[in-house]
Amino acid sequence: MDKLLVEGGQRLHGEVVVSGAKNAALPILCASLLSAEPLVLSNVPRLNDVNTMERLLAQMGVAIDARTPGVVKLDSGRIDWPLAPYELVKTMRASILALGPLLARCGEARVSLPGGCAIGLRPVDQHVKGLEAMGATIDLEHGYINATGRLRGATIVFDMPTVTGTENLLMAATLAEGTTTLENAAREPEIVDLARCLTAMGARIAGAGSNRITVEGVAALHGATHAVMPDRIETGTFLAAVAATGGDVAVRGAQADSLEAVMDKLREAGATIDIRGEQGKHAGGDTLRIRRDGPIKAVSLRTAPHPGFPTDMQAQFMALATLAQGTSVITETIFENRMMHVQELKRLGADIEVEGSTAIVKGVDKLTGADVMATDLRASACLVIAGLIAEGRTTIDRIYHLDRGYERIEQKLSALGARISRIA
Ligand code: EPU
Repeated sequence: MDKLLVEGGQRLHGEVVVSGAKNAALPILCASLLSAEPLVLSNVPRLNDVNTMERLLAQMGVAIDARTPGVVKLDSGRIDWPLAPYELVKTMRASILALGPLLARCGEARVSLPGGCAIGLRPVDQHVKGLEAMGATIDLEHGYINATGRLRGATIVFDMPTVTGTENLLMAATLAEGTTTLENAAREPEIVDLARCLTAMGARIAGAGSNRITVEGVAALHGATHAVMPDRIETGTFLAAVAATGGDVAVRGAQADSLEAVMDKLREAGATIDIRGEQGKHAGGDTLRIRRDGPIKAVSLRTAPHPGFPTDMQAQFMALATLAQGTSVITETIFENRMMHVQELKRLGADIEVEGSTAIVKGVDKLTGADVMATDLRASACLVIAGLIAEGRTTIDRIYHLDRGYERIEQKLSALGARISRIA
């Protein structure tokens, strides 16, 4: 099994280009199920989760051509099996995103119930409740969600903002009869990107990015081309890495307005960030230049749904906080078990106490390299950053988690001067 070897102590310098967003690409790949005409996507990151989603769609009968790097052509002219089997769903929870589109297009769908996962229980009751409100009949049997029925518009009030829940119902609503209103919808930029793609396919959507989304159903969607937005969490991970190591890096191809909360906290921690490019417009045209020379200052934060501080950046910030002057208080509010990196950071010499879902991080003078183990995707990114700032060698085991969501991260960091390599 692959590991990463990191020799810490290098400041990062140079330029790095951000890849397309995993959490936008996954729902958008599923959106291809909504139309019998081809969908051509660009800026698709080559990640294990994207490979898994392509396998899932292919076994349903979708024809996929991914020979050109970054481009995926999907043709869902025929759907043979509106089925997402346990074998694939258990490796990737985002498979649940097939449920809404399959049901809307085929009038039936059978999708394995995702189990719990390392970071928390993560139920899908909101997805199911919403589809039932739209007229679906849903049975949970033998570990599967069996859904049938023709969908009609409805008003759905989510109990909490859920990202994939909002995406599933948004996709389903595009082909439902009549108007659907999603209240207390999640506002993440990936939902806006999905809505842009669906609109290019002929969907009638208003309000994506706000907490009320309205969809007028149409009889059919057509083919389209769409460029996936830049990955804001990959961007934030590079920014946090530079804030931690010190140095001067230009992160190119980013979308600055998707990262306000993260940039605010990095500035509080002592980094300087200049934004060049088309801020405010979707384009992936922004360059974020980050520098840090002075000390790292302690920063406290609470994760929250967008536009709050993203849970997917909490672990990376904790790595930064380990070397800050003073005490940082970091509270996770989205997932109940997303502090597994704490034990590993302590192996490197960090001083962290966890009380409930809050970590109290007292800055120390240095971390020292050790063998650590990744437990989930963002915890892996946290350990990479910790390895970069630790004295000596750190080996990170179980980096298959990292390969689910970061494209060539060790190559990108090496190009910035990090000493990081993959070992067997
Ligand atoms: N929730 C429910 N019932 C539901 C749905 C959600 O109780 O039916 C709860 C969850 O348990 C959680 C909260 O609502 O406490 C929010 O979860 P959400 O549904 O928003 O999470 P998700 O859609 O499963 C997506 C990302 C995650 C990211 C979260 C939060 C994708 C494919 N995944 O998950 O990304 O952490 O939103 O922003 O978009 C990652 O990339 O590392 C990752 C875990």
